[in-house]
Amino acid sequence: MAVTYKETAEGTDPEEIADVLRIAFGRGENAFRSVKEVFENSSLVVFAYDGSRLIGAGRALSDGYDWAGIYDVGLLPEYQGKGIGRELIRHLTDRLKGQHVFLCSVPEKVSLFEHLGFHRSKTAFTYVGGSVKDGFFLPEGYRFEEEFYPRKPFIDNGNTEKKTKVGEITYKESPEGIDYSRVNAVLSKAFGGHERDELKTKDAFERSQKVEYAFADGELVGVARAVTDGKEQAIILNVAVDPAYQGFKIGWNIVAKLAARLDGYNIFLNTHPGAVGFYNRPGFRRNRTAMCYDPVQMPEEVAKGFELPVGFRFPDEY
Ligand SMILES: CC(C)(COP(=O)(O)OP(=O)(O)OC[C@H]1O[C@@H](n2cnc3c(N)ncnc32)[C@H](O)[C@@H]1OP(=O)(O)O)[C@@H](O)C(=O)NCCC(=O)NCCS
Repeated sequence: MAVTYKETAEGTDPEEIADVLRIAFGRGENAFRSVKEVFENSSLVVFAYDGSRLIGAGRALSDGYDWAGIYDVGLLPEYQGKGIGRELIRHLTDRLKGQHVFLCSVPEKVSLFEHLGFHRSKTAFTYVGGSVKDGFFLPEGYRFEEEFYPRKPFIDNGNTEKKTKVGEITYKESPEGIDYSRVNAVLSKAFGGHERDELKTKDAFERSQKVEYAFADGELVGVARAVTDGKEQAIILNVAVDPAYQGFKIGWNIVAKLAARLDGYNIFLNTHPGAVGFYNRPGFRRNRTAMCYDPVQMPEEVAKGFELPVGFRFPDEY
């Protein structure tokens, strides 16, 4: 059997893709109805063929710089266990080198992804609103025995005078007239004062399908963005409030507004251990099986805030 791989959807029948995914995931005929649209709107796709027969597929969303999510990797059952699934993933991760790549595994495939170099994330959340899929989430407000940064604040770089009160706060969901040097400055200050590339920031926000900005007295003080496939999957990124303006519900309002605009999507995010407490409340649930492929090995002390040790299993997973 000579399996070949293709990294374009050109010439691939969407109905065939949907059939392969339905069989691979054991889903009914109503599943994967939007396959044409979501594969077209994905940053990367991959297909596996046995001769001319489509046997497997996968796709990824990426912001083109730092963050990516892998979705819908499926393989016909008779081809499983032969290293083809691993190749499908590799075709995606190879092209996402240097980015943090996330995926939400089905519980029984966690070991496989660990084997491929993924770690279980401790800091991944899904905005569930009201309803949740059993098995994929931890109970509301769940805390691990050890949280790396048990309390806020994560950021206090000492260069900002904290406001004791703020005037009118307004929100904007359009990129029109946005000063990207200010967006860059908000991100830099919120994430520890590191220098950031303004052009990259501008491009990343411009490529994002949804953006949300907050202004206090006319000044831009809060930002967030989301990359989406236009239909099913969304990743919220770069949620940040200028440290001088933190603690006024600006961050929560930005996220709530973005989530409301993403109604119907599976809304994923992976946060910093210092912001786990911010998301760990009604509306969000921690993912049980989110896995991350990190671009660089973090020092052990840092990694333990973001990741579970390799081989970690929840009691009911044994
Ligand atoms: C996380 C962040 C966006 C929150 O913005 P904010 O405007 O200060 O937060 P809000 O005022 O909306 O806080 C809402 C609630 O979350 C709590 N909260 C805020 N930050 C928190 C944190 N880091 N840990 C625990 N709880 C937090 C607040 O106390 C408040 O609780 P309350 O409703 O019980 O009063 C902001 O602190 C920030 O930019 N942090 C640095 C960047 C970062 O880590 N971003 C998240 C990456 S995805």
